[in-house]
Amino acid sequence: MDNHQLQALLESMTLKEKFGQLTQITGELYVGKVDDEMVETGPAYSRHMLEGDSLYTIGSVIGASSAVMTNRIQSEYLSKSRLKIPLLFMHDAIHGYKTIFPIPLGLSCTWDERILRQTAEETASELRAAGIHVNFSPMVDLVRDARWGRVMESFGEDHLLSGNLGKAMIKGYQKVREGRISQDGVAACLKHFAAYGAGIGGKDYNTVDMSHREFFDYYGKPYEIALQEKPKFVMTAFNTFNGVPVTANRWMLKDVLRGLYQFEDLLISDWGAIGELRKHRVARDGKEAAELALEAGVDIEMVSTFYLEHCEDIASRNPALMQDVDAAVLKVLQLKNELGLFDNPYADESAEETVILNAGSLAFAEEAGRRSCVLLKNDNDALPLREEHKNVILLGSYARTRELLGNWACKGKFEDALTLEEGMRLADASLSVSAFETLEDCPKDVLERCDYFVVTIGEHWGQSGEGHSSVHLELDEEQKRLIRAVKQTDVPYACVCFSGRPLALQDIVDDIPALLWCWYPGTRAGAAVASLIVGQSTPSGKLTMSFPRYSAQTPIHYNEYSSGRPANASSYSSRYQDCEIGPLFPFGHGLTYTGATYSDFSISGHGIKENQDLKVNFKIRNPSRYDYSEIVILYIEDLVSKAARPMREMKAYQVVDVPAYGEVNVDMSLSLEDLKYLDANLQRTVEPGSFHIYLNDLERPVFTIEH
Ligand code: IFM
Repeated sequence: MDNHQLQALLESMTLKEKFGQLTQITGELYVGKVDDEMVETGPAYSRHMLEGDSLYTIGSVIGASSAVMTNRIQSEYLSKSRLKIPLLFMHDAIHGYKTIFPIPLGLSCTWDERILRQTAEETASELRAAGIHVNFSPMVDLVRDARWGRVMESFGEDHLLSGNLGKAMIKGYQKVREGRISQDGVAACLKHFAAYGAGIGGKDYNTVDMSHREFFDYYGKPYEIALQEKPKFVMTAFNTFNGVPVTANRWMLKDVLRGLYQFEDLLISDWGAIGELRKHRVARDGKEAAELALEAGVDIEMVSTFYLEHCEDIASRNPALMQDVDAAVLKVLQLKNELGLFDNPYADESAEETVILNAGSLAFAEEAGRRSCVLLKNDNDALPLREEHKNVILLGSYARTRELLGNWACKGKFEDALTLEEGMRLADASLSVSAFETLEDCPKDVLERCDYFVVTIGEHWGQSGEGHSSVHLELDEEQKRLIRAVKQTDVPYACVCFSGRPLALQDIVDDIPALLWCWYPGTRAGAAVASLIVGQSTPSGKLTMSFPRYSAQTPIHYNEYSSGRPANASSYSSRYQDCEIGPLFPFGHGLTYTGATYSDFSISGHGIKENQDLKVNFKIRNPSRYDYSEIVILYIEDLVSKAARPMREMKAYQVVDVPAYGEVNVDMSLSLEDLKYLDANLQRTVEPGSFHIYLNDLERPVFTIEH
């Protein structure tokens, strides 16, 4: 259809039909039970409220999947709807649909936009084959508090990295060709606007209160950056922001999102969030809630039906809103048209078999799994296994389990996942590998032969994710006992950890010689992790979230502001009296097996001027047999400024492919823009003065420049 036809369609719609297009419900109202596994993350208000004709005015369905199921719903809907405008199907495939990739926090530790983009491309192909058109991903909420369960869905604590990785995923999902989403692409939904990751105390759905300076310099930045890739949707956040729930927050949604960040497409509420305006006690009833959300610019209501129920009242009480409603409906129709739904509303039922879980996406899932692991500690090169290690015992709860997909694994099935035990056998057939929960479970003869233990530790996948905030980030006692018992055996060992969040390991870290952090690696988990343990490849990930020493050291992040009393040995400095200074493992930390070194640092000048970038050059030399990707991070420190600045700010990073026994030159650049910050009056400013430049975790600056 062309725009005139879409406009004519809009004009032919009744008020109810228009509000129906702005309403999203679950699919069982059309065909009965849709999916035993559907995750319901809140009450489905719509369930008892919609009946009769209204059901056949609806614009979109959440949570249904498979070509057969979406086609059944579509066909039932179209057979009874007056205007026969096809439904959009939406889902949450945040790290894969059926082929499951590492959790987003794990993916972010690759720092590699190519990996993130390809993850999204593979996911989009599977989604589209299953009849789904819109994916509620990526989430770019900045996180600094590992107590929040949803850190697993994030890209960590740095705004620049989070924004860039979000952008790469949007590109991968939408696969825009010749100005439109391609036939194997899906519309991306950037979420949750805004500052959802800053809930007080790391508690999900909690209040957010922050200065505008903090918002525009940090929490708002990832969205601002990712929006440049033009996602078709943005989702509102559940939280209040400075007193006003975001779903009714005109400043946040109109002035910032639409105005400043220039978002022009569809804004959808989160699950039941419009109804929750009553619980926030900013609306007396559903009608008022609907009106508040519409006034703030929310286009589509997710899983509640207050827009539709109160449309007549809203239109008569607030006729000015109808212009916005028409504009929103037109955008919905345009998207359906762009996705080709008016030509063919049905999914091809033969596509899933070839597209889903195909060899190419599984191989890529393995690569992504490998690249997302971070080697946090490796005393005396305890990893990888050596020639003489032939009899390996895997211990702990994660050695034989297939439950390595992580939370929000969409349609991923445990039976499709590889265990670590299986992965070890695949990685090296000459090894004798056995797996037990505890040392006591090991038969005596197996124990006597053992020359290496791999102790699997971590947090069950169900302990992180939405609604899973925790006050305890420590390992449970049983796991600590296991590590200490293994230490007593004098057999070499290493720990591999599966977790959806950073854990607090201060009281056990000294008993762990080598620690490989695997997050939740997805369908190919076992193979990905095993290849690093046996040394077929080297770990190369670097942390994107700081690891606290104890739970109570949260929130913690690398770019903390200077204090008048910086942390030091003195009591009267900014520190905790019963905890060492700084995180256990900082942002940017990650070891390899390569022994690579940096040298030959040079810089193109001693200052930065407008339109004259500064180049920082150096060499990386890799003396090992591993081809690998080195993550290089460049930070600045503004030595004196009118407002307090962070001790370090990441301004550039690169993922550099370094061949075995090779040497590569690295060029990084800094612009004047990189030296600017938001001053106390919210002006982007650069002041004259000196700036230190740091690389990775080098303690001392590599250069000092002037402006
Ligand atoms: O996309 C999610 C969101 O992240 C949390 N609430 C439910 C939505 C839809 O499932």
